[in-house]
Amino acid sequence: MQEACRIVTKNEEETRLLGIRLAELLEPGDVLALEGDLGAGKTTFAQGIARGLGVEEAVDSPTFTIIKEYHGRLPFYHMDVYRLESSDEDLGWDEFFFGDGVTLVEWAGRIEELLPDHAVRITITVGEADERLITFAPAVERVHRLCRELRRE
Ligand SMILES: Nc1ncnc2c1ncn2[C@@H]1O[C@H](COP(=O)(O)OP(=O)(O)OP(=O)(O)O)[C@@H](O)[C@H]1O
Ligand SMILES: [Mg+2]
Repeated sequence: MQEACRIVTKNEEETRLLGIRLAELLEPGDVLALEGDLGAGKTTFAQGIARGLGVEEAVDSPTFTIIKEYHGRLPFYHMDVYRLESSDEDLGWDEFFFGDGVTLVEWAGRIEELLPDHAVRITITVGEADERLITFAPAVERVHRLCRELRRE
């Protein structure tokens, strides 16, 4: 079992920048499954992903709409499933998870059983002051490769 890959960011801008850099490495059909407490920085990271994908529109929290779609180098589907009543609600998940775009899910644990095996698990933990510990789950080689690339100074 490979070790989880961890990156610490010191402020909001660094988290956004991490998203921008990761976005450059993403491919159609990639799913980013984010976990982290309220205010951890999930939407901030999503804003970086959007920027890195070349989305020009401002990305805000999709809480009341659950899914918002943007257009950049690839389509970007930003989901926040915090308020979803039940994961039985069929929002056509597989069209996103196996589609042509990149999907980012905030509060991914709420739809755990619906997430595809290829989802990249990313957990944001609040540290001291403005520090955030961003963990990429181990398991698949691709996630390690992505994380190694991101860690390169
Ligand atoms: N290192 C950091 N990375 C990201 N955000 C940070 C950092 N340090 C401080 N912050 C602050 O934490 C907050 C993160 O808010 P954000 O909306 O991104 O969180 P969230 O995880 O999406 O919350 P929610 O669960 O409500 O959707 C912002 O106010 C941001 O300024
Ligand atoms: Mg959010």
